[in-house]
Amino acid sequence: MHLKVLQLAIVAIAFISSSTGSASLERIINGSAAQPKELPYQVYFYAFVVPLGWAKSCGGSIISPRLILTAAHCLKGDITHIDVYFGANNLTNIEEKGQQRLLLDISHVVLHEGYDPNTFINDIALIKLPADLQFDDYIQPVALPEDDLTSYSHRAAIASGWGLVDFVNRRRTDILQKLDVMVMSNNECSAELLKRVPGKFFTSSFICLLPPKGTGPCKGDSGGPLVVKDSFDKPLLIGITSHCPVYMCEKGVPSVYTRVSSYLDWIEQARIYQW
Ligand SMILES: *[C@@H]1O[C@H](CO)[C@@H](O)[C@H](O)[C@H]1NC(C)=O
Ligand SMILES: *[C@@H]1O[C@H](CO)[C@@H](O)[C@H](O)[C@H]1NC(C)=O
Repeated sequence: MHLKVLQLAIVAIAFISSSTGSASLERIINGSAAQPKELPYQVYFYAFVVPLGWAKSCGGSIISPRLILTAAHCLKGDITHIDVYFGANNLTNIEEKGQQRLLLDISHVVLHEGYDPNTFINDIALIKLPADLQFDDYIQPVALPEDDLTSYSHRAAIASGWGLVDFVNRRRTDILQKLDVMVMSNNECSAELLKRVPGKFFTSSFICLLPPKGTGPCKGDSGGPLVVKDSFDKPLLIGITSHCPVYMCEKGVPSVYTRVSSYLDWIEQARIYQW
């Protein structure tokens, strides 16, 4: 069994998602376009409140035939449905080769019970699919870390998403964007954040990026993947795009991701939980 393509009648307004002034991450600025099949673990979804309208556009990562890992802040609130895009490169091209869409109700979502929107601690959630994904060149899972022993600091990483490509003009892109970035150590990150935001909450289950100048530090779509390549050049999911402590976070401020390796037990629990 595999997932059927479900097409919403109102696909054209998918991009009228609300752009709140919150500091959740919704942009890849100065990244480059990903090729089809290049990041096959990346999904896109929008969450919406029926009948009020659209709520949020977010990214996520396929971690098994039945599970998508994303951020809790993407799915918290009065959301009733989510429309998930798999295998997509050009989001607006509904006939794109390899792209599949699936409409799910909120019962398929497991939010971390300890998520706190003020601190962004435990900003992690799972979307449980009702049937196995059929993997192909366009749709593939990404591996999870095996343990919580590696810091990944100063490792080269890749962030990706369909977020804003131009913060000032709030310009979006149809095409999946990726960005090469460097992981900061948590000590560097918390020091840097505290310098700019006195009292900023920081915890070991965060992992931070400070991309090179001119690309802007807030890279990625909320909920989307941060990966490193393992020794076999396979992507390994180390972060979930979470937040930036400053609203205009392009200007040299670290962006904060949820550290996936801190949640391996939670993911395992949520995986076996039957709803
Ligand atoms: C994406 O798809 C839409 C709809 O088919 C098309 O109009 C647009 O030109 C495509 N974008 C790019 C950059 O190919
Ligand atoms: C993108 O990079 C260029 C060159 O490094 C820089 O001049 C420009 O300001 C950057 N754009 C944004 C939106 O950060």
